[in-house]
Amino acid sequence: MTECPVSIVVIGAGNRTNKYMEYAIRHPEKLVLAGIVEPNDIRRENMARKFGVPASACFTSYEDFFKNPIPANAILIGTPENEHYHPTMMALEAGYNILLEKPIAQTLEECRAIAQKAREKGLLVGVCHVLRFHPYFLKMKEVVQSGELGQIISINHYAEINLDRTTHGYVRGLWNRAEKTNPMLLAKCCHDIDLLLWLTGKKCRKLSSFGSLRWFRKENAPIGSSDRCINCSVEADCPFSAVDLYKNRKEWVRNFDIPKGMTLDEVIDEELLHGRYGRCVYHCDNDVVDHQILNMELEDEITVTFAANAFTQNDFRSTHIKMTHGEIDGDERILRVRKFRGSKEQIFDFSDIVRQPYHAGADLYIVEDFVKALEEGYGTLRTNIDKSVESHRICFEAETSRLTGRTIFLD
Ligand SMILES: NC(=O)c1ccc[n+]([C@@H]2O[C@H](COP(=O)([O-])OP(=O)(O)OC[C@H]3O[C@@H](n4cnc5c(N)ncnc54)[C@H](O)[C@@H]3O)[C@@H](O)[C@H]2O)c1
Repeated sequence: MTECPVSIVVIGAGNRTNKYMEYAIRHPEKLVLAGIVEPNDIRRENMARKFGVPASACFTSYEDFFKNPIPANAILIGTPENEHYHPTMMALEAGYNILLEKPIAQTLEECRAIAQKAREKGLLVGVCHVLRFHPYFLKMKEVVQSGELGQIISINHYAEINLDRTTHGYVRGLWNRAEKTNPMLLAKCCHDIDLLLWLTGKKCRKLSSFGSLRWFRKENAPIGSSDRCINCSVEADCPFSAVDLYKNRKEWVRNFDIPKGMTLDEVIDEELLHGRYGRCVYHCDNDVVDHQILNMELEDEITVTFAANAFTQNDFRSTHIKMTHGEIDGDERILRVRKFRGSKEQIFDFSDIVRQPYHAGADLYIVEDFVKALEEGYGTLRTNIDKSVESHRICFEAETSRLTGRTIFLD
């Protein structure tokens, strides 16, 4: 058991860890930031300033940090995917509990090795599956679990990834190469697979998957296009234009670093001229899929169809659960529950919270859950790595199925 406030070191002071650390700002009696590991000077200094972390507790690499680790109860790891495994194993070796951003690691063997090491050391590893803490999905789970609609027969679940999110993250951005980060299904949709296993409480028995990088390839570049949107003759008509996304609409610019003495507009201009985000979507170094489907048969003969798609302006998940005595369907805004006999349709309206920051508070609830588990006993943690390895396994196997065309049977 750990006494409060729990002290935590952040490795990777980027977008996600800044969100989670909001919990320490709201609840300083529960959580304090003890140290920061971040190679990017702007990000490290911003976080240090925000939390009053002294320079002596700031590091530019985790290798340096683990040579002279500072005392803390836990480490929050929010580095890119290819930098999850090593710092996590080093942190476990050094005796820290861990809150780890998803995906756990880049191979199933690495995921299992982390889970095994945590068990050996008697330490906690929580994986940031924030959907399990989202009020809309919690209500969905509550209705399923109540038993009022009987048993699950099948589920259709869609991740509408949204065009802007796709071009920013999976074509131009940090998640555009499977080798560097992970296949798209893992990088983006391990949340969805985790959600489906969590909702059903069942394991997957067999699966098959199809998908490809269909559109964002050189051969689809329109005549007259150039390597950069800023000097492209067909930019004005292109739905994937970086000029339109970043300069005109100012979308997805929140995480652009703004060096001292520069404005956001200047940073955007610089990015369009020389950065990765100014590149034409047909002339990037991307290789991850832009559409993928996954079919699963779970225990109890439950069938699940899942589709992830980039070619939509929608930016939400929709789910339809068919049960023996009723059905549940929703789009993160409205959750509709219909019983086949004997009761009226019930509507739960989440429209008010859908755009609220921190994934409608889920980012903060997950940290709260982690702190509580350290305080009260490890068994209470709702996103323990052991549960998460199973959903990651499905993502890895789905990728094998997609690449080989085989149906995969899981033991
Ligand atoms: N749970 C969610 O909903 C969710 C959403 C988006 C991203 N993610 C995941 O969170 C992780 C981070 O994503 P992000 O959007 O915060 O990215 P980010 O780029 O904003 O942050 C990553 C940070 O890690 C730093 N970093 C890189 N290499 C490092 C190293 N060796 N040591 C220490 N720091 C290092 C980078 O400089 C950067 O500041 C990824 O695994 C991503 O898939 C999760």
